[in-house]
Amino acid sequence: MTIEDEVPLSESQIAVHWREEGYFSPSPKFIGQANATDPAIVERFAEDRFPGCFAEYAELLTWDSYWHTILDTSNPPFWQWFVGGRLNACYNCVDRHLAADRNKAAFIWVPEPEDEATVVITYQELHRRVNEFAALLREDCGLEPGDRVTFHLPMVPELPVAMLACARLGVIHSEVFGGFSGAACGGRIADSGSRVLVTMDAYHRNGQLVDHKAKADEAVAEAARQGQEVDRVLVFRRYPGRYSSATPMVDGRDAFADDVLARYRGRVVEPVPMPADAPLFLMYTSGTTGRPKGCQHSTGGYLAYVAGTSKYYQDIHPEDTYWCCADIGWITGHSYIVYGPLSLGTTSVLYEGAPTYPDPGRCWRIAERLGVNIFHTAPTTIRMLRKLGPDEPARYDYHFKHMTTVGEPIEPEVWRWYHRVVGKGEAAVVDTWWQTETGGFLGSTLPALQPMKPGSCGPGALGIFPVIYDEEGNTVEAGTGRAGNICIRNPWPGVFQGIWGQPERFVDTYYRKYCRNPQSKDWHDWPYFAGDGAVQADDGYFRILGRVDDVINVAGHRLGTKELESACLTVDEVAEAAAVPVVDEERGRAVEMYVSLKPGRQASTEIENKVSVAIDREIGKIARPKHVWIVSDMPKTRSGKIMRRVIAGISNFADVGDVSTLANPEVVDDIRHRIQRAK
Ligand code: WT7
Repeated sequence: MTIEDEVPLSESQIAVHWREEGYFSPSPKFIGQANATDPAIVERFAEDRFPGCFAEYAELLTWDSYWHTILDTSNPPFWQWFVGGRLNACYNCVDRHLAADRNKAAFIWVPEPEDEATVVITYQELHRRVNEFAALLREDCGLEPGDRVTFHLPMVPELPVAMLACARLGVIHSEVFGGFSGAACGGRIADSGSRVLVTMDAYHRNGQLVDHKAKADEAVAEAARQGQEVDRVLVFRRYPGRYSSATPMVDGRDAFADDVLARYRGRVVEPVPMPADAPLFLMYTSGTTGRPKGCQHSTGGYLAYVAGTSKYYQDIHPEDTYWCCADIGWITGHSYIVYGPLSLGTTSVLYEGAPTYPDPGRCWRIAERLGVNIFHTAPTTIRMLRKLGPDEPARYDYHFKHMTTVGEPIEPEVWRWYHRVVGKGEAAVVDTWWQTETGGFLGSTLPALQPMKPGSCGPGALGIFPVIYDEEGNTVEAGTGRAGNICIRNPWPGVFQGIWGQPERFVDTYYRKYCRNPQSKDWHDWPYFAGDGAVQADDGYFRILGRVDDVINVAGHRLGTKELESACLTVDEVAEAAAVPVVDEERGRAVEMYVSLKPGRQASTEIENKVSVAIDREIGKIARPKHVWIVSDMPKTRSGKIMRRVIAGISNFADVGDVSTLANPEVVDDIRHRIQRAK
């Protein structure tokens, strides 16, 4: 069956368009303490200072040896930053803070059950735990620099400890978000070629102790099916010494990490000085084909970029208590819970559970208790908290100086609630546009220098030169109100180095579309295609409209339409499937699945349920569709291709565009009636 659209399905086609808004400015009190207050910083990162300007970010780090070439463009678009330089990411995040801040909290972990004690991990304690785990990875698992190891860990301190232990050894970590299914984890194990899996028996969420170990067995089985053997599964116990999973441990393969660690007590492992371009980690994300993409991030460029953006955009100072309320299983957590904040030696808060359990006051209670003064979250969380507890923040005595949002466009009215109620009118609000691939922020405002404009992320970040192109590659000028594809004209240190094992896909997906000359070694000829639609106002600020490819962004998480459709096709009765985005009040976008059945099969709620269960199993609960519609047929072109664009139009009660070229135009009305009856 062909499942290709003639025109790619585009989220931005259904984007909610809002009016340009006025500006907001931060308070003098905020400006007085900000890291970037001198407008000269913008000049230092102007285009004629590129790429040398990024030395300023790299100098925030401690190097074992300095680079000789700041940017090597000899093999486009495989850019290399800080060539010749060596450093260790773990040393930069942990060891170098010991002299001054040994007993300062690096992480504060808040468990979900509110009667369980908060765990404070000082830099000294973190150093001890990271060293012991590094010794275990090296000696028990035999891991060496360049090897990959997969984590399927929830939000527990063991996760950043394990990441930093890998970084110490030069081992490449690949954390799979804990909410993903065992099968999805298995696919990522196989793709990365990991033979070690680190997981956990259980974790708390929404009042349940969720059994997580079962997923490890599914993951190992799926990896084996794809040709990758896993010979070691390390299982942390949520309560050390007490196993909280119903799944048996597998003899010879599984071990309790807390038991094994006891053998490495007090061990110290020297941090390995790694070349700047050695991969630090892989982070998988969805794309336009079923196979997820392992985005490979570098050690030197990435760490420099997240340190610099954490300093100037998150305005992190060493004395702050900073809370990015995201999951470390996403790039946001890697860059802005672990690597960025720790490279600056601040205190980073982690929490287990959900922002709305046991009640929508949870975040504000944590903020009050810990004295959090910088808060970072996603619009979907803000919408949810606004709906469930619009007056909750006022009941708690916390004060944020600074707040950021990330992951999806934020509606101006939601922005205003965030600013007025959550930020109590005191906090600067920074919208940050970026992607798994980009390592760190691309579009944002410098909080003390560039005013905030609700609904717009801002201009390009320091040293980032975005441009909007039309389909032909002509520049869409600012202020014209026309939308186009947002691209970045230049390389930057945080950009990913490639898709693990798929170099051609990397070039094709991100650089082919607007490449001016494939022979050129000049970066000017290789703009980065981000896959988002955007509009630029005449003040230079960008408004991001949504994905222009076959990706649906649900609550800030990317889901590939192909992945969703393949999951549906594992249901025996299903003949064809199409995933489409619909506007959703809380999550921004949600997924609706349209399926048609094999001949002779009758539509039933049982089949609808089977489709949902299949998606849970293949991808995870986060991908669960808002609705499964069983339809008599799909709108198709004469060559038999399913037109997702038409279905998305029907689903959103929008214009379906020209359907005259369809082989079966009558199906449009059939589907319309089918959903009008139900919606
Ligand atoms: C996609 C990337 C960035 C880390 C979390 C998501 C959308 C991201 C914004 C924003 C409007 C945004 C884009 C982008 N997006 N931030 N501030 N305003 N849209 O990372 O899963 O790689 O998703 O999220 O569509 O392409 P991701």
